[in-house]
Amino acid sequence: MNTDFSHDVLIIGSGIAGLSLALSLSKRGRIAVLSKAAMQQGSSFYAQGGIAAVIDPEDSVELHVSDTLNAGAGLCDEDAVRFTVENSKASVEWLIQQGVEFTRGDDNDYHLTKEGGHSHRRILHAADATGKVVVEALIRNVLNEQRIDIMEEHVAVDLIVEQGRCVGAYVLDRKSSHVDTFKARFVVLATGGASKVYLYTSNPDGASGDGIAMAWRAGCRVANMEFNQFHPTCLYHPQAKSFLLTEALRGEGAYLRLPDGERFMHRFDDRLELAPRDIVARAIDHEMKRLGSDCVYLDISHKPKEFVADHFPTVMEGCARFGLDITSQPIPVVPAAHYSCGGVMVDQNGRTDLESLYAIGETTFTGLHGANRMASNSLLECIVYAKSACEHIESLWDVVDTPATPDAWDESQVTDSDEDVVISHNWDELRRFMWDYVGIVRTDKRLQRALNRADLLLAEIAEYYSNYKVSSDLIELRNLAQVAELIIRSAMQRKESRGLHYTLDYPQLAARAENTVLTP
Ligand code: FAD
Ligand code: SIN
Repeated sequence: MNTDFSHDVLIIGSGIAGLSLALSLSKRGRIAVLSKAAMQQGSSFYAQGGIAAVIDPEDSVELHVSDTLNAGAGLCDEDAVRFTVENSKASVEWLIQQGVEFTRGDDNDYHLTKEGGHSHRRILHAADATGKVVVEALIRNVLNEQRIDIMEEHVAVDLIVEQGRCVGAYVLDRKSSHVDTFKARFVVLATGGASKVYLYTSNPDGASGDGIAMAWRAGCRVANMEFNQFHPTCLYHPQAKSFLLTEALRGEGAYLRLPDGERFMHRFDDRLELAPRDIVARAIDHEMKRLGSDCVYLDISHKPKEFVADHFPTVMEGCARFGLDITSQPIPVVPAAHYSCGGVMVDQNGRTDLESLYAIGETTFTGLHGANRMASNSLLECIVYAKSACEHIESLWDVVDTPATPDAWDESQVTDSDEDVVISHNWDELRRFMWDYVGIVRTDKRLQRALNRADLLLAEIAEYYSNYKVSSDLIELRNLAQVAELIIRSAMQRKESRGLHYTLDYPQLAARAENTVLTP
């Protein structure tokens, strides 16, 4: 029983990228925004630190560009960096127009914080709950727009491509368990990243790389998938799942300490706790392995209580739930998978390799991040590319026609009662071998082991997928396995250590900095 859902623009994803684009296009036509769970359940909602922008007269576009290029370890596309940074001021002004209230200092100017790799204070934030405040403002506005259909609990399964043009997507309605056929003149992937491919992650459950896998299956190139960013400081506690301790804590003076209380970052980088993330995460990993310890400690207890409570209420409350008081004790932390620097290749307008298919936000590779994303540049990228994609779609508004209704999804498959348990075992196996073999430190041998396992899983999953009814768990497992395979293959191609990709077999930088581009 399929229904025909027809829109001008189908946006898959309701994070900051998807919502910003929907709002920018809302006066133009009928827009659908899909979210595979509740609208808030993307990484955007959990962003803590803030959004980088050049608004201080003592800062400059040149400085922000050069910090980003440095953090990216020689692999950023300078045009993409310049384009993003030049649009940073307009992007935060747009957010302020949307009703976002960023934290102000005593002088009533916006308070700017600092994070790793930034040579200047330039991060606007809403205390330490920036993502929540931004997403809530965008959702309020989206809900007031008559022509935006918000469809929660709708999971895109695959894109529909006809004669080289993307004309829609098959979408599982989790409530009815039907797969509906959505058609649209323009389709936009805003599905976020893929950090759930690792056992330990700061990301919410939905970060399963769906957009990357769907685009790949539809024939789009992906790039730099080997660059997974590990955030240095996630809470280490048996009951804590994905709880981040923002880098802004270190920006405001927190120290990293070994279990015996000693600081150690001076042995790794002159910028100490504010070195770029790849360096800090690797230093922690090194010290944990050297000492055989389960974690290191993040300590802001030397700062006044009121200052900590004022700047970091979310972290303070989150830690208090586990009996930890950040104002008086060091907090146990470990690195965890945090951000996918690679993704679907797009141009400056968010255009992919397929006609009428765009991609924006963490799901993309724009060239901005290079081999390591600088903190707080990704919310910025979401907004900048939502705007440029909007302008490009608007420029084609009067020339792109409504496609014919595609064939309906074949719903003849059956449900297999054994499927759930097999899927959850496969999820677990996948995320564990990715953590063990494709983590912060890699080798050729580990990567080959991981590839053998990923290939086996992909073959098993292809069999369930063609025989059994799709479920959201199966859809995510299929996408995670695909993304894992792309990450491993990209990592195997890179015969050097650069940025986030570190391998014991090739510890040096190669003479030439090149992107890893995979073509389906
Ligand atoms: P997301 O916000 O992840 O949204 C993805 C959306 O796609 C969701 O709505 C999801 O339901 C939907 N979706 C996915 N697959 C499907 C499918 N198959 N069908 C339908 N819908 C689908 N960056 C910064 O710049 N500053 C920060 O301070 C910062 N802090 C962070 C803190 C945490 C804890 C985390 C996890 C990340 C942080 N980041 C930060 C990174 C940043 O939050 C993300 O890169 C950014 O929010 C991604 O936005 P997005 O719109 O691309 O995707
Ligand atoms: C953080 O607040 O530490 C996360 C910032 C980011 O990922 O950009």
